[in-house]
Amino acid sequence: MLNTIAMLVRARKKGRYVPAFNIYNLETIQAALESSCRAESPVILAFGERYLSYASFEVIAQMAECLSREHPYPVALHLDHCRSLENMYQALKAGFTSVMYDGSNLPFSENIEQTVQARKIADSFGASLEGELGGMNDKSGEGENGLFTEPMQAKKFVRETQVDSLAVAVGNAHGLYREKPHIEFQRLKEIYELTHIPLVLHGSSGLSMETLNLAAQIAVAKINVNTEIAMAGAAALRQALQKETKMENALQWARESLVNVMMHFY
Ligand code: 13P
Repeated sequence: MLNTIAMLVRARKKGRYVPAFNIYNLETIQAALESSCRAESPVILAFGERYLSYASFEVIAQMAECLSREHPYPVALHLDHCRSLENMYQALKAGFTSVMYDGSNLPFSENIEQTVQARKIADSFGASLEGELGGMNDKSGEGENGLFTEPMQAKKFVRETQVDSLAVAVGNAHGLYREKPHIEFQRLKEIYELTHIPLVLHGSSGLSMETLNLAAQIAVAKINVNTEIAMAGAAALRQALQKETKMENALQWARESLVNVMMHFY
């Protein structure tokens, strides 16, 4: 498995993005890899720190390593939304190739300080580092202006932390959008012009292909997708369990539905 640096730089040059799908077990990893094969594209397997109560870094890293060994396209194993430097270290030690330090809840200067520490840890493993600036928790997708990433702050943040990519808040939000999302493309452009690093769009569930492609043409080289896949998987599992008596058949059915939804994001 690789870190995300080369794959994001290559995607950016082409005005394309690499999808990062949230994974947390065998079936989600298999589905993400299968989607990458069908789309003939690199893929990022994103394991959130919050899934730690479900599976350990070691189990996930070993499954991902084993399943991606013969994979014909670049694969990265990425730690998504990590707020603990200790967890970040443990993930890298287990074999993760990329990490996100999420200091977006911290005051700006503290976010910088912690992300600088994260940079040192990531460097000691040759891993890529994503930072985050701005807030993405407003589900309406509108946000207060203060929550949006400020281009001048982004410039300072990137210069001081040396992150490889930056997650931005430009009208995107995690989960389901309650209203039609409004992505501020001009802000995205300004942030990119001042930072010149691949930008990351979290909360990509519910965004149209037109929006995602335009964002990629401007600056975005990685999109994060979870909600749409998780909901489709749960719905497929519910349906499968009504007719299947065997767990393995139900899981296979659900896995196929995960692949189908993932395919919409290439
Ligand atoms: P969605 O759940 O809105 O797709 O966002 C996923 C995400 O950004 C994970 O980091």
